[in-house]
Amino acid sequence: MSGQQQKQYIVQPGGKLTGECRVPGDKSISHRSIILGAIAEGTTNITGFLEGEDALATLAAFRKMGVEIEGPEQGRVTVHGVGMNGLTLPEDAIDLGNSGTSIRLLCGLLAGQKFNTVLKGDNSLAKRPMGRVIDPLAKMGAVIGSNEGKLPLHVQGGNNLYAISYELPMASAQVKSCLLLAGMYAKGKTTIVEPAPTRDHSERMLAGMSYPIEVEGNKITIEGEGKLMATDIDVPADISSATFFMVGAAIAPGSDMTLCHVGVNSTRIGVINILKMMGADITLSNETVTGGEPVADIQVRYAPLKGINIPVDQVPLAIDEFPALFIAAACAEGQTILTGAKELRVKESDRIQAMAAGLVILGIDAQATDDGMIIEGGIMGSGEVDSLGDHRIAMAFAIAGLQAGGTIVIKDSANVTTSFPKFVELATAAGLVLDEIDG
Ligand code: S3P
Repeated sequence: MSGQQQKQYIVQPGGKLTGECRVPGDKSISHRSIILGAIAEGTTNITGFLEGEDALATLAAFRKMGVEIEGPEQGRVTVHGVGMNGLTLPEDAIDLGNSGTSIRLLCGLLAGQKFNTVLKGDNSLAKRPMGRVIDPLAKMGAVIGSNEGKLPLHVQGGNNLYAISYELPMASAQVKSCLLLAGMYAKGKTTIVEPAPTRDHSERMLAGMSYPIEVEGNKITIEGEGKLMATDIDVPADISSATFFMVGAAIAPGSDMTLCHVGVNSTRIGVINILKMMGADITLSNETVTGGEPVADIQVRYAPLKGINIPVDQVPLAIDEFPALFIAAACAEGQTILTGAKELRVKESDRIQAMAAGLVILGIDAQATDDGMIIEGGIMGSGEVDSLGDHRIAMAFAIAGLQAGGTIVIKDSANVTTSFPKFVELATAAGLVLDEIDG
């Protein structure tokens, strides 16, 4: 984040991952628990909340809009809901740091308020496209000023919103959720059609809080001007964070690692499906459902991986997991081809470019394509790679150390705390030889 102390990771080669570990709470569900808890009637008690900067940015935004929130303390947060129309004018601009989910979801919610707001963020967020939410919100009657579709966003309040039917031009849970939130303030029924399934945590949480919403195949319909009833929310461990340990265990001989109480919602398990297709040894146990979200323990034991053509239908289900999956591909025998993943170019960094560049530095034949990558499995060497301030790029290259021939230096690692505080501590305890230093 801007103004933050620069950090870098130094990873020593070799090692294996063993033991049990519970990674921090799901980022997507943590954001939604605060947003929906804030506008619900009554008190929402959250456990397992992610105390990472992105989710904390959402929490701080609602405090600024007059919501009383206790915590977080060891993952516990209590949100005293103010009801659908109880938010108040924040004193100044709301800073959402690095968090694309916060800004896109808040845009939809704030378009339906009586007051104006200004939303801003860090240098990475300032480069990301906001037209994907501004354009459909404008069709609903919202007025959002921007700098050619980029930050800062000036969200005008006091407009009547109208329900629309909208076909999403890209598979995006953030855009879908933004429109669902705006739809709650619109007159009539808003319908959203997805080109492919994306994470459905908003739909599940809305239904769990008794809000009128219907899902029929790829069509989601939400009624305007309903009521949300507070409920307790248990946030499962984040499969996107667990991924780094899953891939680490899959590539390092002798590994046997169990990730506990991980969210395994079918819209998030692309990484399990893809790794299994590559030959990974993955077993799920203790499968249960908590607060409408399926969870399980995931055990991964080392097994040799082979390259595959990644099925396009798995792409939205594993969209945040590709940095780690590219490392798995680099360690697999043969070629892996990813297509249909253009969205990776507009994440916290251009993840296709950032990962291909780093893999090439480490001696892997990785070719970036317009919408994916072609990777020949090989032997990784050593070198200095740049995470470009992207948390998932930094963690992906950290686990690459398990199969590297020498030391890997990863520049610009400070943003790992946006999604995975204590990554270094947990990864080190599991067997990765990793240090974080200033600089
Ligand atoms: C998220 C949706 C995804 C994902 C992001 C979290 C969410 O973004 O990459 O990390 O919580 O809705 P897109 O909707 O842009 O694909």
